[in-house]
Order: sequence, then C-alpha cells, then structure tokens
Amino acid sequence: MQYDTVIHGGTVVTPYETFRADVGIAEGRIAAVAERLNGGERRIDAGGRLVLPGGIEAHCHIAQESSSGVMTADDYYSGSVSAAFGGNSCFVPFAAQHRGQSIADVIATYDGRAAPNSVIDYSYHLIISDPTPAVLEELPGVFQRGITSFKVFMTYDLMNIGDGGMLDILTVAKTHGALTMVHAENNEMVKWMNRRFAAAGLTAPKYHALSRPELAEEEAINRAVSLAKLVDAALFIVHVSTRGGAAIVRREKLAGTKLFAETCPQYLALTRSDLDRPGMEGAKYICSPPLRDQETQEALWQHIRSGTFESVSSDHAPYRADASGKFLNGMDAPYPKIANGMPGIAMRLPYLFSEGVAKGRITLGDFVKLSSSNAARVFGLDRKGSIAPGFDADIAIWNPEETRKVTLDMQHDNMDYTPFEGNEITGWPELVMNRGRIVVEKGTLKGQAGDGRFVARKPVDTGAMPGHRAVEFKIAAEFGQEIAP
Ligand code: URP
Ligand code: ZN
Ligand code: ZN
Repeated sequence: MQYDTVIHGGTVVTPYETFRADVGIAEGRIAAVAERLNGGERRIDAGGRLVLPGGIEAHCHIAQESSSGVMTADDYYSGSVSAAFGGNSCFVPFAAQHRGQSIADVIATYDGRAAPNSVIDYSYHLIISDPTPAVLEELPGVFQRGITSFKVFMTYDLMNIGDGGMLDILTVAKTHGALTMVHAENNEMVKWMNRRFAAAGLTAPKYHALSRPELAEEEAINRAVSLAKLVDAALFIVHVSTRGGAAIVRREKLAGTKLFAETCPQYLALTRSDLDRPGMEGAKYICSPPLRDQETQEALWQHIRSGTFESVSSDHAPYRADASGKFLNGMDAPYPKIANGMPGIAMRLPYLFSEGVAKGRITLGDFVKLSSSNAARVFGLDRKGSIAPGFDADIAIWNPEETRKVTLDMQHDNMDYTPFEGNEITGWPELVMNRGRIVVEKGTLKGQAGDGRFVARKPVDTGAMPGHRAVEFKIAAEFGQEIAP
C-alpha cells in the first residue's frame, strides 16, 4: 500500500481504545492503523504524542449577524484558522435566518461566506426564526443538501418562535431525520426581570447574570423536552448552564427520550462574579445563558464525567469590546443593549484537555467523545470523529506535556480579548490535519482560505433511544385518525 503520509510512533486514541499505532493516510483518508507501517511520502514523528481525531466544533457563530444585526468579529477565514489552532479539523457554525428571509437566500449567503474562506471542513446548522408555511416547505430541500440540523430559540424577541413554531419545526425535522437544537431560556421571565432592573436603574453588566435566572433555563428545557416528546422528535439542548437543566437532561435520557445536550467551557471556567469586574470590563463576560457559580461548575463536571452531555462546545460568539461589537450601543450601554457572547473556539479543546484529562476528571476516551466523535455521530458527519480505516484523515497530534499561559495572540481570531487570558494550560495540539492536509503545524498556519469543503451530513443517529409516543396520538389512531407526525 502506498501512503501519502504515515504518522508513526504515537499513541492513538479512539472513543474506546488507547494504543500505540502508526496511521497510514492515502488520498485524504485513513488507509491503515497498524503497529508498524513502513513507507509514506511524508513521515510524521508522533513519538511521545497523542494521535486524536481532529476536533469537531459544533456550536460557533461565524460571519453571523446577531438578532439585533451585530456582525461577529470572525469570518470563515479567521474563525476556521482559530478553530484549527485549537485542535479542530471541522466546524459547524450556524446559517441564521432573520425574519422575512427565505431559506434559499440564507444558504446562498452562507455558502458565499464559507466556501472561499474556510481553511477546514464545515457544514451549517440552519437557524430558523420565522417558520412560515413557505419556510417549512423549504426545509426538506435543505435536508436533501445535507444540512440535517435546525436551531431554534425560545428567547430573544426577534428569534423566539413560540411553542407552536417549535412544534411545526420538530414535526418537519422528525419526518426527515433532522435534529432540532434549542436555546432554552424562558423569554417572559427574562423580560420581566429586565423590567424590574430597569425600573430600579440597575443596568451594569453584572445585572445581566441576574436577569436570566437559572429557573428560566430549567423551565425552558423542561418545556422544549415536552414539545419534542409530544411529536417524538430528536432534540439537542445547547449550552446547558445550570444544575437543574443538566438534571432534566439526565432524567429524560434515562426515560429514553431522544435527547442530546452540550455544555461549554465558559460555564466551567468562569462565574457571574466575572461580570462584576471594574468599569465596563464585565461586558466581556456577557453571554446567554449567563455565567453561574462554582457549585454549578462542579455539578456540570460531574455531568460531563457521567455522560449527560454529548459534547463540550465553545459557543464562540465573538464580539469585540469596542463599538463594532459589545458596545455598538455606546461604551456605557445598559446590559440589555450589550452584544451577547464570548469568544473561545481556540480554547475549547485545550481547556477541556487541561482541566479534564490532565486533572483526572475525564479519560482520554471521554475527551475524544466530547471533542469530536459524539458530534460526528449526532450531527451525521459519518466520515469523521475516529481514527480508523475509511475515516477522513482529520487528526490532531497533541503534546500532553506542553504547558502554556493563555494569551490573546494564541487565539488567532479577530478578537481584542480572550476570557481565558492568563489561564495555565497543560496539553496542546501541535499539528492539525484535515483530510490529510496539514492545517497547523508547530504554531504555523499551513492551510489556506478555501481549502475546507462543505460536508453533507447524514440524518441524526438516535441509536437505541426508544423515544415516546404520546397517548393522544395512539388514541387518535384507534379512532382511525392518523395525525401523528
Ligand atoms: O450569548 C450567546 N451565547 N450568544 C450567541 C448566541 C446564542 O445564544 O447562542
Ligand atoms: Zn444560544
Ligand atoms: Zn450560540
């Protein structure tokens, strides 16, 4: 067998095994994994290193306008470069529909943003903010194109589609095997809290954290799960930030609900006290759902360790701390007018490795699942997420001993801050490969704009999750009325 590349001498990690092996790559795919492989036009020495599936970042906002029209600081070039420096070979940002737009226009817009610019493979989750009958009719076409996940919001006035809208989308998604992702926070609770704080003149960034109560997330997760159960559709809860929310996910998984979930490094690394930094510094830590507290961090780690979450995603939502981003509405804007979101696409995996693997909270296999292989399975990236013959040669070679102090320039993004500044990290991705091409090697970018390809994805894999059939649909069927989706 002729190999283009052989990675030799490393320790290969898959979701279930860790073993010494060489990896042979031909035509962008993994062709062999064996104890010893000779040949290879290029031989990469991975002695003392870990050979892992390249990360798959499944929650990031790239070249995306927020609901209030603020464009992210990262486009598909800087976003993908930053992702690659952080150990990712593939990412799945959002293609966001704003009200009144057709889905065809949305997809064409994001194709124009991504295809010429991305240095790594990409796909999109389609955000739907306006589920009109015409839009619902467009969804099967999107699905045919390999965009097999939709995202909806239960909060933000310009995005919230209401329970009926969610049921419509869940029903279409179920019919086609698509996965519906949801940002779950009770919009009315948040608006009510906002009015109370505004009336009391409490508008500093720290009140953002208090304005979005834990109960707002818990109620909305519970409601989203109930809506999905009514039509037996698969659901993915994004950025779970609370103990109560994680406990609901856990309970529903035990009950066989077709449910997936993620949390994010910021909920493990930071707390609401970060919003109380001097001056407007706290604005850098405004994200939704908001940062919580140390007890929550510990509980979320327990849920990560015990399998409640499929993945840990960055929710990279980069808005600079200037008038182009956070402070579009003025340098002393009240918290509801400050852009929501934090950067972190380059820090997701180093943080998870350092705090998770190096500190003994999770195993290497867990790291592979949380960083790559579960996202591949759940989001239908069937050639990605493992080191095995036939898979894309999407590989990250990690030095588990390398220590670093986090700085902004390590992020390689378009941001003017990182919330992880000064963190001490153990473990770093030295080389990142996408379909056999080296994208980043020893701190140097080797990939080029446009190298990344759009990946058509398969339907969601709900594995052995039995799901539910609502009793009313059963009874309706007995009456001869088959109205179930
Ligand atoms: O605050 C956040 N997370 N901003 C990005 C948009 C979203 O809600 O995911
Ligand atoms: Zn969100
Ligand atoms: Zn997000």
